[in-house]
Amino acid sequence: LWLAVGIRHRQPGEPMVENGLIPYLGCALQFGANPLAFLRSRQRKYGHIFTCKIAGQYIHFLCDPFSYHSVIRQGRHLDWRKFHFATSVKAFGHESFDPRHGHTTENLHQTFLKTLQGEALPSLIQTMMCHLQDVMLRSDTLHPRTHKWEVDGIFAFCYKVMFESGYLTLFGKELGEDKCQARQAAQKALVLNALENFKEFDKIFPALVAGLPIHVFKSAYSARENLAKTMHAERLSKRENVSDLISMRMLLNDSLSTFNDISKARTHVALLWASQANTLPATFWSLFYMIRSPEAMKAAKEEVKRLLDAAGLTPDPNNPTLNLTRDQLDNMPVLDSIIKEAMRLSSASLNIRVAKEDYLLHLDNQEAYRIRKDDVIALYPPLLHYDPEIYEDPYEYKFDRFLDESGQEKTVFFRNGRRLRYFYMPFGSGVTKCPGRFFAVYEIKQFLTLVLSYFDMELLEPAIKTPPLDQSRAGLGILQPTYDVDFKYKLRATS
Ligand code: HEM
Repeated sequence: LWLAVGIRHRQPGEPMVENGLIPYLGCALQFGANPLAFLRSRQRKYGHIFTCKIAGQYIHFLCDPFSYHSVIRQGRHLDWRKFHFATSVKAFGHESFDPRHGHTTENLHQTFLKTLQGEALPSLIQTMMCHLQDVMLRSDTLHPRTHKWEVDGIFAFCYKVMFESGYLTLFGKELGEDKCQARQAAQKALVLNALENFKEFDKIFPALVAGLPIHVFKSAYSARENLAKTMHAERLSKRENVSDLISMRMLLNDSLSTFNDISKARTHVALLWASQANTLPATFWSLFYMIRSPEAMKAAKEEVKRLLDAAGLTPDPNNPTLNLTRDQLDNMPVLDSIIKEAMRLSSASLNIRVAKEDYLLHLDNQEAYRIRKDDVIALYPPLLHYDPEIYEDPYEYKFDRFLDESGQEKTVFFRNGRRLRYFYMPFGSGVTKCPGRFFAVYEIKQFLTLVLSYFDMELLEPAIKTPPLDQSRAGLGILQPTYDVDFKYKLRATS
């Protein structure tokens, strides 16, 4: 009898269903072990769409890229808010942002667009560039010298540099005289603590999304709460150069919500996580693959040199004040392709929508399937990113995969002779597409430009194997490497 409990019987017109062998978990373990292999095998068996029970939830996986549009287009049958808002509440513990729950009237989506895109970008870019150079060359985070190689893990290096720079760019610095040594030390300690707490919390993030309560994880819980403590309104109001993203968050928390103080602080932790959790591994993969490929390094160095020469800029580690405008960063197709290719190989975000009612989902091949109210429909972009019909030798890193014959951004990809509308989706899709995606790519480009300008870099083992992706985070974004890879760097001697 227990085997029958909670089992769905397929009704006529519904996708083929797989209940899995384990009650409640269903196919969760097979899916979790290797999502891509699992989905591919089911795609071969069932076709473009099929249903799997995963941890109590029936999920329809839609695998035909030509049908993606029917899910990505925000039709009246599909809801994105329910899942997204609920996930954020589970992970960060703030009150709900869903206006239907009555704690706020804010349109969060609009806030993100306003504070992370368009006119918000130039100042984010400029601030990030200053912090990146401070962290790389002025602070004591790294110790680069001209005549001596420093050895570090690439992930550790990216983590330190990007976390500190990104944190300061969004949350600003404490008010006061920057030259005062005690204050500088306090700033540094704050960022380092934030980094440690972030790491501790981030480790259990997949478990929280899967529905486990945070109280089970004592140290991760205190890490999250320690982060929140530093983000109470009275602490943040003592900081200067706070980004629009955070200052608007403070304002709207106060004016449009009935959130209590701890909830308000936790909304900032959510933004810290969103801004870092994917950027850190994406920076790692971009730098790792670039250093490992002599052709990529050569092309990237040439592009950076051309850009700096055209702008009349000379990198000087004793006065690290390079500045690049948004237009200049937009004009770096090689770095763009290097970043895109790294993310193609490492991204694994699930795109989720929930059916608001029973309805018919129409596929591109004229088939239609019955979907039940509250069922989840999911797209899994690695099915695209690793599709040999779209990307030749999909497991190989080719730094120029996203460049066309004239060396500009390649935007046209085909499958079976048909042009694809969706071929690259590390940032999600449609209305839930990452609002920080422009800034994310700019900051990684800035990072690469600066390491190429100021440092010589080499892998300790030039032909080292690519570390496997840590699949425990599959579904959540850019996957981390299962282990770090050592490299060495030194300051480039100025001529
Ligand atoms: C949401 C990817 C960097 C802010 C998301 C989502 C993905 C994503 C997949 C969820 C989309 C969905 O649910 O369908 C990435 C990647 C990044 C990155 C791959 C870096 C390489 C950033 C940065 C920021 C940011 C730097 C901010 C400074 C956000 C926010 C959301 C989000 C606020 C939630 C949006 C909402 O719920 O409406 N991101 N992201 N992201 N991201 Fe990013």
